Amino acid sequence: MAHQHHVVLLAVMIIMLSAMADTDSFIFGGCSQVKFMPGSPYENTVNSLLTSLINSATFTNYNNFTIQPTPSSSSTVYGLYQCRGDLSNDRCSRCVERAVSQLGTLCLDACGGALQLDGCFVKYDNVSFLGVEDKTAVMKKCGPSIGLTSDAMTRRDEVLAYLETSDGSTYKTYRTSGSGNARGVAQCTGDLSPSECQDCLSDAIQRLKMECGASTWGDMYLAKCYARYSEGGRYSRNSNDDSNHNDDEIEKTLAILIGLIAGVALIIVFLSFLSKVCEKHKGGK
Ligand SMILES: *[C@@H]1O[C@H](CO)[C@@H](O)[C@H](O)[C@H]1NC(C)=O
Ligand SMILES: *[C@@H]1O[C@H](CO)[C@@H](O)[C@H](O)[C@H]1NC(C)=O
Repeated sequence: MAHQHHVVLLAVMIIMLSAMADTDSFIFGGCSQVKFMPGSPYENTVNSLLTSLINSATFTNYNNFTIQPTPSSSSTVYGLYQCRGDLSNDRCSRCVERAVSQLGTLCLDACGGALQLDGCFVKYDNVSFLGVEDKTAVMKKCGPSIGLTSDAMTRRDEVLAYLETSDGSTYKTYRTSGSGNARGVAQCTGDLSPSECQDCLSDAIQRLKMECGASTWGDMYLAKCYARYSEGGRYSRNSNDDSNHNDDEIEKTLAILIGLIAGVALIIVFLSFLSKVCEKHKGGK
């Protein structure tokens, strides 16, 4: 019996590990100072908005919702989510679900909140922000500034220049680029117009260049867009066009691994059971 418990525990641990895939890494979160009364109609409105976001994420990478005031709640609540452009609907919805659940803990009873995981962004507030360009720097991180070689610097600049290039006819909120080992990824929230997205990304990229100087990698998150680069593959999985396949491969591999470990554990349980039975037989004689 004890062995069987170990098997279950092991499987649970592995499932938890696989759930902590890189799309779930926490990037930043913030809440409005203003709080609502727990149990108030406002709370119901926020809950139904967040539920709408989770449901919508099962079929589209971006959506926005506006919940109109009801007779009992005078506040309108606005919300949006944006998944990274390369995520499948399945991974997008899991990411949004996780972001909403973390938002619920981080921004308990707050009138508004925003949270960015590696794979998705979620925001709600009773002050309208939909379609409003916002270039406030929210989070900046630079890697070790060990001094890129001039070659690496050139590749970095190429990657960033390409991210900034808008190919007018094919407007994209999600962009990736690569040159040698250098990778870049950029994403706008879907509520921006093409020109606003372009403007936001240009800003993020300029700041990234200026503030991360000769770092081997850098992240620049503005309120409505972000740009990231790395030299040497830190984001190669994220920015690679095949990343969907890679992620699916990893999930498959994990599933097989879980199966294998569970199988081996079962065999051990069975063998120990057999040996006990044998011992009993020996003891009986
Ligand atoms: C947002 O909600 C807070 C708390 O209920 C309220 O004080 C504030 O006036 C609301 N803002 C808007 C724009 O409705
Ligand atoms: C919000 O969503 C509606 C319905 O999907 C869409 O028509 C509208 O353009 C969106 N607004 C913004 C700012 O993205």
